[in-house]
Amino acid sequence: MSKTLSRNLTSKNPRMVRGEGIYLFDAEGRRYIDGASGSALVCNIGHGVKEVAAVMTPQAEELAYNPFHCSRSLAYEEMAERLIRLAPQGFGKVFSVSSGSEAVENAVKFGRQYQVARGLPSKHLVISRWQSYHGNTLGALACSGYTGRRRKHAPIFKDAVHIPPAFCYRCYFEKNYPSCELKCARALENAILQEGPENVSAFIAEPVVGAALGGAPAPPGYFQKIREICNKYDVLFIADEVMCGLGRAGASFAIENWSVTPDLIASGKGLGSGYFPMAASLISDAVSNTVQAKGAAFEGVHTCCGHLLGSRVATVILDYMVKNDLARNSKEQGRRLLQGLEEIKTRHASVGDVRGLGLMCGVEFVKDKATKEPFPPELKVAERVMDACMERGLIVFPGHGAVDGTAGDHLLIGPPLVITSSQVTALLEILSDAIDAVKKEILN
Ligand SMILES: Cc1ncc(COP(=O)(O)O)c(C=O)c1O
Repeated sequence: MSKTLSRNLTSKNPRMVRGEGIYLFDAEGRRYIDGASGSALVCNIGHGVKEVAAVMTPQAEELAYNPFHCSRSLAYEEMAERLIRLAPQGFGKVFSVSSGSEAVENAVKFGRQYQVARGLPSKHLVISRWQSYHGNTLGALACSGYTGRRRKHAPIFKDAVHIPPAFCYRCYFEKNYPSCELKCARALENAILQEGPENVSAFIAEPVVGAALGGAPAPPGYFQKIREICNKYDVLFIADEVMCGLGRAGASFAIENWSVTPDLIASGKGLGSGYFPMAASLISDAVSNTVQAKGAAFEGVHTCCGHLLGSRVATVILDYMVKNDLARNSKEQGRRLLQGLEEIKTRHASVGDVRGLGLMCGVEFVKDKATKEPFPPELKVAERVMDACMERGLIVFPGHGAVDGTAGDHLLIGPPLVITSSQVTALLEILSDAIDAVKKEILN
């Protein structure tokens, strides 16, 4: 009997022992296409990259960890320099942590420190969106709009204000793009006015929604409108790029797809690509200079911030990403993947929507394509399809709540960014076959 806590107490998950590129191998020698890059959309550079392994032991032998409160390291400086090179213009500072949740919370706290530093201490509220995911620690969960993960804990955190998501397939306003005139973005203005701009510190959003909506990018023009509203009311814009950043959405940072510059960015997952738990908050000069002008250092601290060995690993990963032009491959193969998913949608009555940007794609299942009626949550359709994929050698990531926070089944599909065209085809074939199998079981 295992002594570890797992996400699923009943399942007999295979024991993974080896990885190579987009493939994972279990203890029985079975090969899987890792269509989720780990849990979830983490291992951007692929498994078993020798360049990463090559630096780990020597660096650990030399020095793995330095006291962050009273010393510096070249590794951290180099990692930060690489990240800033990839970031939108105007970003100059990096604060590295161990998880995306910490990266989000520190971005929020840095924003708050900025408001206090410039003499606006009433600005404290964070506005976020329903059907979003910003992490599982209490502060990040308060920002999240992922009902299944937050409802039980809501009484013990200080909640953010939530506005509707930018989700055209199930538009909260029952409009169609572009005649909707981006009501979902305008909802931010209403929320700011409702709370009072003098009380609002920041708005946080994922450019492409991951776990909560299954690869749903905001429509064109959305973040331009959001930026305009934030500027108008002196509210910071935090882009949560923990999942969609670092090549995942076909660009170094996903927000580039809207040609918009946020004030703060939360980065994670791909930064350590599963080789090391690395994440980071990126801070724009306008924000960090204001805080520093007051002679204040950032007040964030964690045991592993600026981790030396982690920084060394992340530097190699970022170099690998640039050298192999993974953002471009993500864009190209993402197009191919989405096209294949579109074909699957036409063939399968249970596939209501497919969506995505770069190699961050999603499939939403429906009982009725015309009405978009979801399957009853107790049928666990997303898990069933995931299990059927697993049996056939493909790992995907299931999610729920696209309709109302509870109902709605989707899969997130995001293989490592090194995937090739023929591997995309193989992935699609397994997925289609798995959907067929589940259909036979329950769908019809
Ligand atoms: C967009 C987004 N933000 C934050 C997080 C939290 O990251 P972590 O699980 O590393 O704390 C996640 C994790 O899935 C995420 O997808």
